Amino acid sequence: MASVKFLNITKKYGENVILNGIDSEINDHEFVVIVGPSGCGKTTLLRMLAGLEEITDGEIEIDKLVVNELPPSKREIAMVFQDYALYPHMTVRENMSFALKLRKMNKAEIEKRVSEAAQILQLTPLLERMPRQLSGGQRQRVAIGRAIVRKPKVFLFDEPLSNLDAKLREEMRIEIAKLYQNLNSTIVYVTHDQVEAMTLAGKIVVMNRGIIQQTGSPLDVYRKPKNVFVAGFIGSPTMNFFRGKLVKEKEEFYFLNESLKIFVPAYALPEAEKYVGREITLGARPDDILTGEKSVDHQHKVKGSIEVIELLGHRENIYIKAGENRILATVDAFSNYSPGSGIEFSLNYQNIHVFDTLTEQRINP
Ligand SMILES: Nc1ncnc2c1ncn2[C@@H]1O[C@H](COP(=O)(O)OP(=O)(O)O)[C@@H](O)[C@H]1O
Ligand SMILES: [Mg+2]
Repeated sequence: MASVKFLNITKKYGENVILNGIDSEINDHEFVVIVGPSGCGKTTLLRMLAGLEEITDGEIEIDKLVVNELPPSKREIAMVFQDYALYPHMTVRENMSFALKLRKMNKAEIEKRVSEAAQILQLTPLLERMPRQLSGGQRQRVAIGRAIVRKPKVFLFDEPLSNLDAKLREEMRIEIAKLYQNLNSTIVYVTHDQVEAMTLAGKIVVMNRGIIQQTGSPLDVYRKPKNVFVAGFIGSPTMNFFRGKLVKEKEEFYFLNESLKIFVPAYALPEAEKYVGREITLGARPDDILTGEKSVDHQHKVKGSIEVIELLGHRENIYIKAGENRILATVDAFSNYSPGSGIEFSLNYQNIHVFDTLTEQRINP
């Protein structure tokens, strides 16, 4: 097992800066998920760690050893790819044994490792099958099996579930969580799917445009996103954002734009005084839009009209329009609201997110 360190990593293709000063530490036994939109440089970063891509600038350490010049075979890392990359003309057993045979490991040891891995992954009955005789989920398990038998210091996963359908993806997500509990090894897992990131990660690294936006526990990143990008990227359905100014009236602070006026209690923005008159972005998750007689702050209620209601089961999504602002509230189902009618709401002030519109950085605690 091992720790990993990225020290001021930069990657350029020609003039294009793909990664720009990546600094990150991954501890021994940690399950780190690197999440970000397509094209932000996740695969490039993993490939550099695996030794498959040259590093333009900076250093990568594995177990405190700089590995920049070390070939992939010497890094003791195993990578599982999105497209599985199984050898089509080999059985499952042969696929799993192949890397070990190349290393000239003795037959008994290969046999032992393959059967152990097959057991963990429930592949034992499938060992003599060809890849084409397997389902997508089974193929993905073989790809993981191939990594396990090598007993690597670090496992790298590059969007391993993105080729599976939704149900299978959920199942495999749980399999991977179990696998981690079993192996207890260092895992670096890359995905564009924030749900996967939230559910699997011990630590999340949110990336955008080749830069780390925030690193933290899933709850940290969800509750205290550092900037507008992270706030909008993490969480489903997406956070509501309101853009306008902070104003002060009769010793109270309000968010204000052309059609909305929202109370901002001083405890939710201790530095409010400093931001009076400035452009702010107010964020509230759909769960934090409160409706219904009892939950609304009637002194500071906001009025809107209901455009659409989506029943989800025990919850429902209410799409509200207030002037030019569109707001999603997720509330308990069977609320008795109906499209076209008016609605009053307030925010769950404890959970609001306030950003400086200019810098997009969070300004409340
Ligand atoms: N070999 C390459 N040559 C030039 N540009 C590349 C190469 N590989 C990747 N890129 C570019 O680098 C950026 C990041 O790619 P990638 O790491 O694959 O992103 P992600 O995995 O986050 O989707 C993209 O803009 C991509 O077009
Ligand atoms: Mg990728």
